Amino acid sequence: MTESSALDNLLTESRTFPPSGEFAAQANAKASLYEEADADREAFWAAQAQRLHWHTAPTQVLDWSNAPFAQWFADGKLNVAYNCVDRHVESGHGEQVAIHWEGEPGDTRTITYNDLKAEVSKAANALTGLGLAAGDRVAIYMPMVPEAIFSMLACARLGVVHSVVFGGFSAEALRSRIEDAAAKLVITTDGQYRRGNPVSLKAAVDEAVAKTPTVTNVLVVRRTGGEVDWTEGRDLWWHELVDGQSAEHTPEAFDAEHPLFILYTSGTTGNPKGILHTSGGYLTQASYTHHNVFDLKPDTDVYWCTADIGWVTGHSYIVYGPLSNRVTQVVYEGTPNTPHEGRHWEIIQKYGVSIYYTAPTLIRTFMKWGADIPARYDLSSLRVLGSVGEPINPEAWMWYREHVGANRAPIVDTWWQTETGAIMISPLPGVTATKPGSAMGPLPGIGAKVVDDAGAEVGKGGGGYLVLDKPWPSMLRGIWGDEARFRETYWSRFTEQGYYFAGDGAKYDNDGAVWLLGRVDDVMNVSGHRISTTEVESALVSHSRVAEAAVVGATDPTTGQAIVAFVILRGVQPDEDATALVKSLRDHVATEIGPIAKPRQVMVVPELPKTRSGKIMRRLLRDVAENRQVGDVTTLADSSVMDLISSGLQSGK
Ligand code: WT7
Repeated sequence: MTESSALDNLLTESRTFPPSGEFAAQANAKASLYEEADADREAFWAAQAQRLHWHTAPTQVLDWSNAPFAQWFADGKLNVAYNCVDRHVESGHGEQVAIHWEGEPGDTRTITYNDLKAEVSKAANALTGLGLAAGDRVAIYMPMVPEAIFSMLACARLGVVHSVVFGGFSAEALRSRIEDAAAKLVITTDGQYRRGNPVSLKAAVDEAVAKTPTVTNVLVVRRTGGEVDWTEGRDLWWHELVDGQSAEHTPEAFDAEHPLFILYTSGTTGNPKGILHTSGGYLTQASYTHHNVFDLKPDTDVYWCTADIGWVTGHSYIVYGPLSNRVTQVVYEGTPNTPHEGRHWEIIQKYGVSIYYTAPTLIRTFMKWGADIPARYDLSSLRVLGSVGEPINPEAWMWYREHVGANRAPIVDTWWQTETGAIMISPLPGVTATKPGSAMGPLPGIGAKVVDDAGAEVGKGGGGYLVLDKPWPSMLRGIWGDEARFRETYWSRFTEQGYYFAGDGAKYDNDGAVWLLGRVDDVMNVSGHRISTTEVESALVSHSRVAEAAVVGATDPTTGQAIVAFVILRGVQPDEDATALVKSLRDHVATEIGPIAKPRQVMVVPELPKTRSGKIMRRLLRDVAENRQVGDVTTLADSSVMDLISSGLQSGK
């Protein structure tokens, strides 16, 4: 949703949905949480940390003396995997289903907490056998198979730092992430299903690893049974190495600040940043938010988060938050329209899913497919609905409420980021009266504000930048290997106040509710995925025929934003087929970064609009991409450039 349409909605949106008395009576969250947190924020978080099992209980809460590097619960020790697996077995829930796994082709697996403990222990023993020890890094490049979750937990169990790389990313994206983290092991599969067809994944690993000498082994799960190239001595089959290991493994306790994972995300400039998260504070907030925001009742609920573990949502709301809370959850491998457009509703009906967490882009896709599709299924088990990844427009929110939630299930619109580690701004079901399209307000224990350029909080009805004004337990602990970039990106905008700069625009309505308006930097949000304009521009100029490129995010009715590229070509032949070249440029971006970064449109232009200092004025290109009247051009070095671009595009050149 664009800023302007969000603002329009905001001005007209007057509907509110208070919680039902029935829901409120049974809700995990109570309004008193806000008061408790306000009264003593650190005591509040210390109490939340009690949700976890500590081998050594922490006596410290927050240490902010070395800001912006926080330490939470620093003298405590815990094992994250023990918290997500073993303790549920020890409390007598070993027979409870942890994961109802549904493969894209329709094969299924049921994994109890007993099974999970055995699988994670075997994987941990195998990793130890490969020489991995606490602090080492492992790259996980896999589709949504159970072994991906076993692998993450096996790393956590050993204090090994995982770096999950989305299976839709290219060999080059994988290579740069392996290199940055100096990973020793890559865990992958032979292939993955994509809309019903098996495609190779291992081949991309072979290509990446050829250029990353730190990698000594590649561990391969057999999923599709496709052909793979094999490097003896380096490559190992999961079923040969892991399956025969002992299912006994004693977890060791690590410091609360021991690194848990690195996850790469796009920034305004340069290569993706390796966002670093640690153990105790991260798990505390993942667990607390999952319990309160989704109202999880571990004995009766069936939870389903439709994210991929390649994104932070999969880390915090498939693996760590839910499993620490003894969830029973659905994990689905495939796409929502394979083999038909009712697949999600069929799965909800089959497993009796009661909590469903998805992204606005998918809700809008469901809208496009038609309300008659969910209407064919029994969705009466649903009692909480969640949304994440981008602003949800009120129309999509209302459709979700009516056609999925039967006008009954509360909707939680959850704002957070890879960097925040866990949900920060969200209604609490059973407590908050919600408005369609608003994430409402910061959770108890969280400080968030909308401020102006000078860092002063704006009043009701005012808009500005979203900042986080108090440290929180699951906050990032830095960018892997780049302290300067960490300070510069998040902490240099409001140094005086010490605010964390989120990069999002936001507004308070007249009641003080928070409305997120999208990124204020050069980061695009395509289907809830963060992609930087510079990343796509670099991919384009790496093509031999591109002299210069500028990329903008243009409003798109389904994906939120879509990538539109403007390119200046080199060596144009008069009779050249531009259509074929444009296609090859789009494909080139998909090869360099991944299919999610493929531009919706590539426009060939003679010039790009630049300021006198040479900065590309993306604002003007966005006007062109969204078919708007081009805005103020007075700061352009050559103000006729926009006419040249517009007339060239109109004549179809
Ligand atoms: C960016 C973070 C958080 C997990 C998925 C994305 C946007 C996220 C919302 C929301 C409005 C949202 C923001 C944010 N965003 N959730 N509920 N309403 N915008 O994680 O890739 O780190 O992206 O996603 O722009 O900065 P991410």
